[in-house]
Amino acid sequence: MNTKFSDYFKENFFQDEENLNVFLNSLTKKLKKTIRINTSKISVEELKKRMFEQDYILTPTFQKNVFYIEKWENPDKEEKKLGTTLEHLLWYFYVQELWASSSVFYLANWEIDKTPHLILDMAASPGWKTTQLSEYYPDSFIVANEFDSSRTKQLIMNIERLWATNIWITNYNWQYLGRISNTFDKVLLDAPCSWEWTGFKTLEALKFWNIKNVKKISELQKKLFESGLNSLKVWWEMLYSTCTMNEFENEWVVEYIKEKHPWSFEILFEKRFWPHIDETWWFFVCKIKKLKEIEYRSSKKEELFNENIKNLTRWEESIMNNFGKEFWINFDNFELLKYSNEIIIINKKHPYNEISGRIYFFKLGQRIGKIEEWQFVPNYYIWRDFWILKIPKYEIKTEQELDIYLKWAEIWENLEFIKWKKIVWDYVQLIYNSVSVWLWKISSEWTIKNYFPKSWFRK
Ligand SMILES: C[S@@+](CC[C@H](N)C(=O)[O-])C[C@H]1O[C@@H](n2cnc3c(N)ncnc32)[C@H](O)[C@@H]1O
Repeated sequence: MNTKFSDYFKENFFQDEENLNVFLNSLTKKLKKTIRINTSKISVEELKKRMFEQDYILTPTFQKNVFYIEKWENPDKEEKKLGTTLEHLLWYFYVQELWASSSVFYLANWEIDKTPHLILDMAASPGWKTTQLSEYYPDSFIVANEFDSSRTKQLIMNIERLWATNIWITNYNWQYLGRISNTFDKVLLDAPCSWEWTGFKTLEALKFWNIKNVKKISELQKKLFESGLNSLKVWWEMLYSTCTMNEFENEWVVEYIKEKHPWSFEILFEKRFWPHIDETWWFFVCKIKKLKEIEYRSSKKEELFNENIKNLTRWEESIMNNFGKEFWINFDNFELLKYSNEIIIINKKHPYNEISGRIYFFKLGQRIGKIEEWQFVPNYYIWRDFWILKIPKYEIKTEQELDIYLKWAEIWENLEFIKWKKIVWDYVQLIYNSVSVWLWKISSEWTIKNYFPKSWFRK
């Protein structure tokens, strides 16, 4: 154990040796696994039932949608990893630590909120909390910012997998975010931190813990906090969280901004979660309410809408209309835009207009296909939002068969069934357990190309 680490905690939090040891010992304790149920896709009861059939038992935590998950021994059944279950694949649940799902839980006051808000997630990647925001605020519009562009790929993947059309991505540092004053109804700042939490993975990680690093990162946190506060509307709420326990990155960041901008906000809730008391990884949350505008200067100017994103031309509109008519898809509730030759779809009910002209989006809406050689070629995402009546369906009968497809096999069998369908359409919609799983493309050699994204495959 790094003595700098243990001495700091002894000095600041634990007066006696015994309490300190209880805390230090808890660091290596294995914590119970938890999952977060996506109730916009499945009810808790239905998921419990499905998982029970696969030998999993779910028990409640203090969060309504989050459950401890345990497998009971069943020697007759082959071990199947949670991440490879169909339910996971369909985004019915996510494996997420209890602490990680807490920030959004507190921001949203534990309830699904159907009012259309404008929300900023300041440090979003890989997107666990962003996708959770989209569940808790289904009719809101979420700007997910990730400063490190190498981490945006994972963020995009998670958002596309969730099919969350209300999340758009930006790629800014705090100075840029700060120029958008008094705009958002909710701000989530899940701040970059000193990685203290990795102590839970291995105590080795704490070897590098030192107060100098901690102080350095707290300077960045203060800047982020201040720019987040500036971007928040008066009377609205921001949640600040870290997965560290030292005071420099937590209470003292909040205190610093409070002193710098007196009476600008009040603290609604503040809590430090301890591993030996709360049985979670350590983390800190602080929820505030903005009381007045702050004086904030940013050297950066607001930017215009991404010029590469274009409205459809007349003939492109007519191609999309014809496609809609032919396959009975109604695009009335959506705005269609174009990026390069990709068609992007935006749900009109989300309040994106309040922000879309003021910020440069790295990714917006959801891609649904391309216009190529005067026709629309849908991509594999379209099946989920639109039940395309005219596309033939193929019913997978067994879990074993599903497993083959999820391992990205090309399909050579069952072609008799498919053959005559190709006369109508090049795609087949894949159904399992009354759930639409994916879309296949039939090639000209009569094989079926498996369009499952590679990152989702079972190993
Ligand atoms: C704790 S992680 C966020 C985890 C994420 N909220 C989730 O739940 O999946 C912090 C993120 O802040 C990003 N970050 C680092 N420096 C930043 C900066 N200067 N401005 C904004 N974000 C930054 C990191 O790249 C990292 O993705």
